[in-house]
Amino acid sequence: MNYNQDIQTLIEAVAKSPDNTTLRYYLAEKFMHSGFVPEAEVQLQEILKLDRSNMAAKELLAEAFYKGKKFSAIVMIAEDIQDTNEMPFKLKVWYTKALVKEKNLRLAQEMYEEILDDNPRFLDPELDEALRIKAFGALEELDLDEELFLEESNISFKDVGGLADVKKEINLKIIKPLLNPDLYKMYGKKVGGGILLYGPPGCGKTYMARATAGEIDAKFINVGINDILDMYIGQSERNLADVFEVAREHTPCVLFFDEVDAIGASRHQMINQAGKNVINQFLSEMDGISSDNEGLLIVGATNTPWALDTAFRRPGRFDRIIFVPPPDNDARAAIFELALREKPLGEGINYTKLAKSTDMFSGADIYAVVDRAIEAKLEIALETGEVQPIEMTDLQQAIKKTQPSTREWFNTAKNYALYANQSGLYDEILKYIK
Ligand SMILES: Nc1ncnc2c1ncn2[C@@H]1O[C@H](COP(=O)(O)OP(=O)(O)O)[C@@H](O)[C@H]1O
Ligand SMILES: [Mg+2]
Repeated sequence: MNYNQDIQTLIEAVAKSPDNTTLRYYLAEKFMHSGFVPEAEVQLQEILKLDRSNMAAKELLAEAFYKGKKFSAIVMIAEDIQDTNEMPFKLKVWYTKALVKEKNLRLAQEMYEEILDDNPRFLDPELDEALRIKAFGALEELDLDEELFLEESNISFKDVGGLADVKKEINLKIIKPLLNPDLYKMYGKKVGGGILLYGPPGCGKTYMARATAGEIDAKFINVGINDILDMYIGQSERNLADVFEVAREHTPCVLFFDEVDAIGASRHQMINQAGKNVINQFLSEMDGISSDNEGLLIVGATNTPWALDTAFRRPGRFDRIIFVPPPDNDARAAIFELALREKPLGEGINYTKLAKSTDMFSGADIYAVVDRAIEAKLEIALETGEVQPIEMTDLQQAIKKTQPSTREWFNTAKNYALYANQSGLYDEILKYIK
């Protein structure tokens, strides 16, 4: 065989010191790079005879086997290593590819998860193609075009009825720091971090987040968890990483995760491990482990704070938690006014009275009441051909037909507030129940 000079020299050296595994490894590498795969294989096998735990040799041997289409041999190398944590990264990749060839997709998926755990940005078209979870039908491609993400909000605090306390807290914890970063820095306070809005559904968490964006001149990125979660193994982690990257490029920036509790409990994720990987990715992005989160404010919203992995609430993560309660009397009056804006109204609409008869109604419930009243009017208008304004009685009738939706939430929340409130997290709920 005609080997080049380098290889020739190494062959002679190996012949002189046959037990020198380092030399043999150099030779194997040279063989591989020059396309002499079977020769490389022989050297690597020889190394493993001398040193059974030589991971570098196993890794390169797996590559040689892959090139020689000896897939089951790769599986054997890998299975010989009990703890997959000890496997070098590339060996994991060759192993996973071999598993795909061997049609052991279940195990391949698990391994692929591990690979992406080690390196969320790892991309391999072959593995992506093979390990796609096809059971859930067509995939909605997430287009990470920045323009899709960076929103302009057309509402601000004035459009939010009531919630004065919440507005004050947001002002203090979000708006002021973003507007006066230097002042905060002088006092050694970081600008950024995480805030969690929680409370019964329909009471304005999402609405409030949008209004916050409208209040400030910061960029606002609204992330639906379903945009992030993806049936492709590892794609969710990559989507998350991308969203954070876009946000970091546009500071000051409010990054809003609506229904953030869904992140650990995705119906798209077939394997439990996958959910954990997404959570871990989220946490490390929040911690800013590999990048600087200065000027990045992360706002999460959830109806079920108790379903949120407690790791999310550690310092530096969602450590500021704001309860968004059902609207009080004044807020309900204000929401009625907002909901009836630009509608044909009769004389004598009494907003205070409407508010009084809608205790425990959420903002969304109030909008539902107004909708109901309008529908009743429309029905009459269609029958008679006459457009009549909405009267107080129409609204009162609609109220009677509408159940306040927050009661059920409080029934559930009460249990957590009473029995799982060690950290005082649900004090606000207790205050509210009293
Ligand atoms: N305080 C409020 N002021 C004005 N509108 C409100 C308020 N709370 C809720 N709404 C209305 O109810 C709808 C549902 O609220 P949303 O923010 O989606 O609730 P949540 O996110 O808490 O479930 C909003 O789009 C808005 O029209
Ligand atoms: Mg919401």
